[in-house]
Amino acid sequence: MKIFDTRDALQQYLGTLSTKTVGFVPTMGALHRGHISLIEQAKAGNDVVVCSIFVNPTQFNDPADLDKYPRPIEADIAKLEAAGCDILFNPPVTEIYGSNENWHLNIGQLEFLLEGEFRPGHYQGVTQVVYKLLDIVKPTNLYMGQKDYQQFLVVSRMVQLLGIPVKMVMCPIEREADGLAMSSRNIHLTADDRKHSLVLSQTLNWLKDNFDIHNVFELEQQAMAMLQAEPGVQPEYIEVADGTTLLPADEHSTSIVALTAAKVGKTRLIDNVLIK
Ligand code: PAJ
Repeated sequence: MKIFDTRDALQQYLGTLSTKTVGFVPTMGALHRGHISLIEQAKAGNDVVVCSIFVNPTQFNDPADLDKYPRPIEADIAKLEAAGCDILFNPPVTEIYGSNENWHLNIGQLEFLLEGEFRPGHYQGVTQVVYKLLDIVKPTNLYMGQKDYQQFLVVSRMVQLLGIPVKMVMCPIEREADGLAMSSRNIHLTADDRKHSLVLSQTLNWLKDNFDIHNVFELEQQAMAMLQAEPGVQPEYIEVADGTTLLPADEHSTSIVALTAAKVGKTRLIDNVLIK
Protein backbone atom coordinates (compact mmCIF):
# COMPACT_ATOMS: atom_id res chain seq x y z
CA MET A 1 0.00 0.00 0.00
CA LYS A 2 1.23 3.48 -0.90
CA ILE A 3 0.97 6.06 1.87
CA PHE A 4 0.82 9.81 1.22
CA ASP A 5 0.57 12.72 3.61
CA THR A 6 0.51 15.57 1.08
CA ARG A 7 -2.10 16.29 -1.56
CA ASP A 8 0.57 16.98 -4.20
CA ALA A 9 2.24 13.59 -3.78
CA LEU A 10 -1.12 11.80 -3.76
CA GLN A 11 -2.39 13.62 -6.84
CA GLN A 12 0.86 13.07 -8.70
CA TYR A 13 0.57 9.33 -8.08
CA LEU A 14 -3.14 9.24 -8.93
CA GLY A 15 -2.32 11.05 -12.17
CA THR A 16 -0.28 8.07 -13.31
CA LEU A 17 -3.43 5.90 -12.90
CA SER A 18 -5.76 8.24 -14.78
CA THR A 19 -7.58 5.62 -16.83
CA LYS A 20 -8.76 3.64 -13.81
CA THR A 21 -11.88 3.72 -11.64
CA VAL A 22 -11.11 4.96 -8.14
CA GLY A 23 -13.12 3.93 -5.07
CA PHE A 24 -12.75 6.24 -2.07
CA VAL A 25 -13.37 5.46 1.61
CA PRO A 26 -12.95 8.51 3.88
CA THR A 27 -12.44 7.68 7.58
CA MET A 28 -11.16 9.14 10.82
CA GLY A 29 -9.16 5.99 11.59
CA ALA A 30 -9.33 3.65 14.60
CA LEU A 31 -10.44 1.20 11.96
CA HIS A 32 -12.78 -1.70 12.72
CA ARG A 33 -14.63 -4.30 10.67
CA GLY A 34 -17.20 -1.67 9.61
CA HIS A 35 -14.53 0.45 7.92
CA ILE A 36 -12.92 -2.64 6.41
CA SER A 37 -16.25 -3.71 4.89
CA LEU A 38 -16.27 -0.37 3.05
CA ILE A 39 -12.75 -1.04 1.74
CA GLU A 40 -13.87 -4.50 0.57
CA GLN A 41 -16.89 -3.10 -1.26
CA ALA A 42 -14.69 -0.43 -2.84
CA LYS A 43 -12.21 -3.11 -3.94
CA ALA A 44 -14.97 -5.17 -5.52
CA GLY A 45 -16.19 -2.24 -7.62
CA ASN A 46 -13.04 -0.32 -8.61
CA ASP A 47 -9.54 -0.72 -10.03
CA VAL A 48 -7.94 1.34 -7.27
CA VAL A 49 -9.01 1.95 -3.65
CA VAL A 50 -8.05 5.06 -1.72
CA CYS A 51 -8.71 5.31 2.02
CA SER A 52 -8.18 8.52 3.97
CA ILE A 53 -7.51 8.75 7.68
CA PHE A 54 -8.03 12.28 8.92
CA VAL A 55 -9.49 13.21 12.30
CA ASN A 56 -11.31 16.30 11.09
CA PRO A 57 -11.27 19.03 13.76
CA THR A 58 -14.07 21.09 12.18
CA GLN A 59 -16.73 18.42 12.70
CA PHE A 60 -16.19 18.02 16.45
CA ASN A 61 -18.57 20.20 18.39
CA ASP A 62 -17.06 18.92 21.66
CA PRO A 63 -13.29 19.64 22.00
CA ALA A 64 -12.94 16.85 24.60
CA ASP A 65 -14.31 14.37 22.03
CA LEU A 66 -11.65 15.52 19.52
CA ASP A 67 -8.87 15.21 22.12
CA LYS A 68 -9.77 11.69 23.13
CA TYR A 69 -10.51 10.42 19.62
CA PRO A 70 -8.39 7.23 19.23
CA ARG A 71 -5.48 7.43 16.73
CA PRO A 72 -3.84 3.97 16.43
CA ILE A 73 -2.19 4.69 13.08
CA GLU A 74 0.18 1.70 12.98
CA ALA A 75 -2.64 -0.78 13.65
CA ASP A 76 -4.78 1.01 11.06
CA ILE A 77 -2.07 0.70 8.42
CA ALA A 78 -1.74 -3.03 9.14
CA LYS A 79 -5.53 -3.50 8.78
CA LEU A 80 -5.60 -1.61 5.48
CA GLU A 81 -2.66 -3.63 4.15
CA ALA A 82 -4.42 -6.86 5.11
CA ALA A 83 -7.62 -5.70 3.39
CA GLY A 84 -5.71 -4.97 0.18
CA CYS A 85 -6.23 -1.20 0.18
CA ASP A 86 -4.05 0.39 -2.52
CA ILE A 87 -3.52 3.92 -1.21
CA LEU A 88 -3.74 5.61 2.19
CA PHE A 89 -3.99 9.37 2.43
CA ASN A 90 -3.10 10.43 5.98
CA PRO A 91 -2.52 14.20 5.97
CA PRO A 92 -1.76 16.48 8.90
CA VAL A 93 -4.33 19.19 9.69
CA THR A 94 -2.18 21.86 8.01
CA GLU A 95 -2.37 19.99 4.70
CA ILE A 96 -6.17 20.25 4.69
CA TYR A 97 -6.85 23.60 6.37
CA GLY A 98 -5.31 27.03 6.05
CA SER A 99 -5.92 29.65 8.71
CA ASN A 100 -9.34 31.29 9.15
CA GLU A 101 -11.20 29.21 6.63
CA ASN A 102 -14.90 29.84 6.28
CA TRP A 103 -17.37 27.30 5.03
CA HIS A 104 -21.11 27.24 4.84
CA LEU A 105 -23.24 25.10 2.59
CA ASN A 106 -27.02 25.38 2.70
CA ILE A 107 -28.16 21.78 2.98
CA GLY A 108 -31.60 22.74 4.26
CA GLN A 109 -33.32 21.08 7.20
CA LEU A 110 -31.05 18.01 7.07
CA GLU A 111 -28.52 20.12 8.95
CA PHE A 112 -30.81 20.74 11.90
CA LEU A 113 -32.78 17.51 12.36
CA LEU A 114 -31.76 14.64 14.69
CA GLU A 115 -27.91 14.65 14.86
CA GLY A 116 -27.93 18.26 13.68
CA GLU A 117 -29.94 19.33 16.70
CA PHE A 118 -27.57 17.67 19.17
CA ARG A 119 -24.31 18.41 17.32
CA PRO A 120 -24.55 22.00 16.09
CA GLY A 121 -22.15 22.72 13.24
CA HIS A 122 -21.23 19.06 12.85
CA TYR A 123 -22.52 18.67 9.29
CA GLN A 124 -20.89 21.90 8.14
CA GLY A 125 -17.58 20.38 9.27
CA VAL A 126 -18.39 17.07 7.57
CA THR A 127 -19.32 18.68 4.23
CA GLN A 128 -16.27 20.95 4.46
CA VAL A 129 -13.82 18.07 4.81
CA VAL A 130 -15.55 15.65 2.44
CA TYR A 131 -15.63 18.40 -0.21
CA LYS A 132 -11.89 18.94 0.20
CA LEU A 133 -11.12 15.22 0.14
CA LEU A 134 -13.26 14.64 -2.98
CA ASP A 135 -11.52 17.56 -4.65
CA ILE A 136 -8.14 15.96 -3.95
CA VAL A 137 -8.96 12.31 -4.71
CA LYS A 138 -11.57 12.85 -7.48
CA PRO A 139 -12.96 9.32 -7.06
CA THR A 140 -15.36 7.51 -9.34
CA ASN A 141 -17.28 6.01 -6.39
CA LEU A 142 -17.60 7.17 -2.78
CA TYR A 143 -18.28 4.52 -0.11
CA MET A 144 -20.00 5.59 3.10
CA GLY A 145 -21.75 3.65 5.85
CA GLN A 146 -25.43 3.40 6.69
CA LYS A 147 -24.18 3.58 10.29
CA ASP A 148 -24.07 7.38 9.81
CA TYR A 149 -27.32 7.50 7.88
CA GLN A 150 -27.86 11.24 8.15
CA GLN A 151 -24.24 11.89 7.14
CA PHE A 152 -24.84 9.85 3.99
CA LEU A 153 -27.88 12.00 3.14
CA VAL A 154 -25.99 15.22 3.91
CA VAL A 155 -23.04 14.27 1.69
CA SER A 156 -25.42 13.09 -1.07
CA ARG A 157 -27.13 16.48 -0.92
CA MET A 158 -23.77 18.27 -1.18
CA VAL A 159 -22.74 16.12 -4.14
CA GLN A 160 -26.05 16.97 -5.85
CA LEU A 161 -25.95 20.71 -5.01
CA LEU A 162 -22.36 21.18 -6.15
CA GLY A 163 -22.63 18.81 -9.11
CA ILE A 164 -19.67 16.71 -7.98
CA PRO A 165 -19.17 13.82 -10.45
CA VAL A 166 -19.06 10.91 -8.01
CA LYS A 167 -21.40 8.00 -7.36
CA MET A 168 -22.39 7.49 -3.73
CA VAL A 169 -22.59 3.93 -2.40
CA MET A 170 -24.23 3.18 0.96
CA CYS A 171 -22.73 0.19 2.79
CA PRO A 172 -24.65 -1.81 5.46
CA ILE A 173 -23.92 -1.56 9.21
CA GLU A 174 -21.40 -4.06 10.61
CA ARG A 175 -22.33 -5.20 14.11
CA GLU A 176 -20.81 -7.13 16.99
CA ALA A 177 -22.33 -10.61 17.45
CA ASP A 178 -24.72 -9.28 20.11
CA GLY A 179 -25.99 -6.43 17.91
CA LEU A 180 -23.93 -3.41 18.97
CA ALA A 181 -23.06 -1.36 15.89
CA MET A 182 -19.30 -1.18 15.45
CA SER A 183 -17.83 2.24 16.17
CA SER A 184 -14.42 3.71 16.88
CA ARG A 185 -15.96 5.08 20.07
CA ASN A 186 -16.91 1.65 21.46
CA ILE A 187 -13.45 1.30 23.05
CA HIS A 188 -14.49 4.02 25.52
CA LEU A 189 -17.35 1.84 26.87
CA THR A 190 -16.76 0.31 30.30
CA ALA A 191 -17.84 -3.30 30.83
CA ASP A 192 -21.13 -2.06 32.32
CA ASP A 193 -21.65 0.46 29.50
CA ARG A 194 -21.04 -2.31 27.00
CA LYS A 195 -23.94 -4.35 28.47
CA HIS A 196 -26.27 -1.36 28.62
CA SER A 197 -25.38 -0.29 25.06
CA LEU A 198 -27.33 -3.27 23.68
CA VAL A 199 -30.58 -1.47 24.42
CA LEU A 200 -29.99 0.71 21.34
CA SER A 201 -30.03 -2.04 18.71
CA GLN A 202 -32.65 -4.00 20.67
CA THR A 203 -35.03 -1.04 20.80
CA LEU A 204 -34.52 -0.25 17.11
CA ASN A 205 -35.29 -3.88 16.26
CA TRP A 206 -38.36 -3.75 18.48
CA LEU A 207 -39.53 -0.69 16.54
CA LYS A 208 -38.99 -2.51 13.26
CA ASP A 209 -40.83 -5.63 14.44
CA ASN A 210 -43.79 -3.65 15.80
CA PHE A 211 -43.89 -1.06 13.05
CA ASP A 212 -47.29 0.36 12.13
CA ILE A 213 -47.38 3.59 10.13
CA HIS A 214 -50.64 4.59 11.86
CA ASN A 215 -49.11 4.33 15.30
CA VAL A 216 -45.70 5.99 14.92
CA PHE A 217 -46.03 8.52 17.74
CA GLU A 218 -46.96 5.89 20.36
CA LEU A 219 -44.21 3.55 19.15
CA GLU A 220 -41.63 6.31 19.44
CA GLN A 221 -42.80 7.10 22.95
CA GLN A 222 -42.57 3.47 24.01
CA ALA A 223 -39.15 3.16 22.42
CA MET A 224 -37.96 6.25 24.27
CA ALA A 225 -39.26 4.76 27.54
CA MET A 226 -37.34 1.53 26.83
CA LEU A 227 -34.11 3.50 26.38
CA GLN A 228 -34.75 5.60 29.47
CA ALA A 229 -35.39 2.50 31.57
CA GLU A 230 -31.88 1.16 30.88
CA PRO A 231 -29.36 2.09 33.60
CA GLY A 232 -26.53 4.39 32.48
CA VAL A 233 -28.29 5.28 29.22
CA GLN A 234 -29.30 8.86 28.45
CA PRO A 235 -31.22 8.90 25.18
CA GLU A 236 -31.16 12.00 22.99
CA TYR A 237 -33.67 10.91 20.34
CA ILE A 238 -35.33 7.86 18.85
CA GLU A 239 -37.39 8.60 15.76
CA VAL A 240 -39.04 6.89 12.84
CA ALA A 241 -38.22 9.07 9.85
CA ASP A 242 -38.70 9.28 6.12
CA GLY A 243 -35.57 7.71 4.62
CA THR A 244 -34.91 10.56 2.20
CA THR A 245 -35.91 13.69 4.14
CA LEU A 246 -35.57 12.50 7.77
CA LEU A 247 -38.86 14.29 8.47
CA PRO A 248 -41.48 12.20 10.32
CA ALA A 249 -42.40 9.13 8.26
CA ASP A 250 -45.87 8.98 6.78
CA GLU A 251 -47.95 6.84 4.39
CA HIS A 252 -46.19 8.44 1.41
CA SER A 253 -42.66 7.60 2.59
CA THR A 254 -41.05 5.26 0.09
CA SER A 255 -38.27 4.41 2.56
CA ILE A 256 -38.45 4.53 6.35
CA VAL A 257 -35.64 4.42 8.91
CA ALA A 258 -35.59 4.37 12.71
CA LEU A 259 -32.68 6.33 14.19
CA THR A 260 -31.39 6.84 17.69
CA ALA A 261 -28.62 8.56 19.63
CA ALA A 262 -27.84 8.08 23.31
CA LYS A 263 -25.08 8.62 25.80
CA VAL A 264 -24.05 5.32 27.35
CA GLY A 265 -21.97 6.25 30.36
CA LYS A 266 -19.77 9.01 28.94
CA THR A 267 -19.82 7.72 25.37
CA ARG A 268 -22.24 9.00 22.74
CA LEU A 269 -23.49 6.27 20.41
CA ILE A 270 -25.73 6.35 17.33
CA ASP A 271 -27.53 3.55 15.50
CA ASN A 272 -30.34 3.00 13.02
CA VAL A 273 -32.33 0.29 11.24
CA LEU A 274 -34.09 0.36 7.90
CA ILE A 275 -37.78 -0.36 8.37
CA LYS A 276 -38.87 -0.07 4.75
P1 PAJ B 1 -15.70 7.45 10.60
O1 PAJ B 1 -16.56 7.57 11.80
O2 PAJ B 1 -14.30 6.97 10.76
O3 PAJ B 1 -16.44 6.53 9.57
C1 PAJ B 1 -15.91 6.32 8.28
C2 PAJ B 1 -16.94 5.55 7.46
O4 PAJ B 1 -17.15 4.27 8.05
C3 PAJ B 1 -18.30 6.28 7.45
O5 PAJ B 1 -18.84 6.24 6.13
C4 PAJ B 1 -19.12 5.44 8.41
O6 PAJ B 1 -20.52 5.47 8.15
C5 PAJ B 1 -18.55 4.05 8.19
N1 PAJ B 1 -18.82 3.18 9.34
C6 PAJ B 1 -18.61 3.46 10.64
N2 PAJ B 1 -19.05 2.44 11.42
C7 PAJ B 1 -19.55 1.50 10.58
C8 PAJ B 1 -20.15 0.21 10.77
N3 PAJ B 1 -20.35 -0.31 11.98
N4 PAJ B 1 -20.54 -0.48 9.67
C9 PAJ B 1 -20.36 0.05 8.42
N5 PAJ B 1 -19.81 1.25 8.18
C10 PAJ B 1 -19.41 1.97 9.24
O7 PAJ B 1 -17.77 9.16 9.29
C11 PAJ B 1 -16.65 9.63 9.45
O8 PAJ B 1 -15.58 8.89 9.87
C12 PAJ B 1 -16.32 11.08 9.14
O9 PAJ B 1 -17.45 11.87 9.43
C13 PAJ B 1 -15.85 11.33 7.69
C14 PAJ B 1 -16.93 10.94 6.66
C15 PAJ B 1 -14.57 10.54 7.41
C16 PAJ B 1 -15.54 12.84 7.50
O10 PAJ B 1 -14.59 13.28 8.40
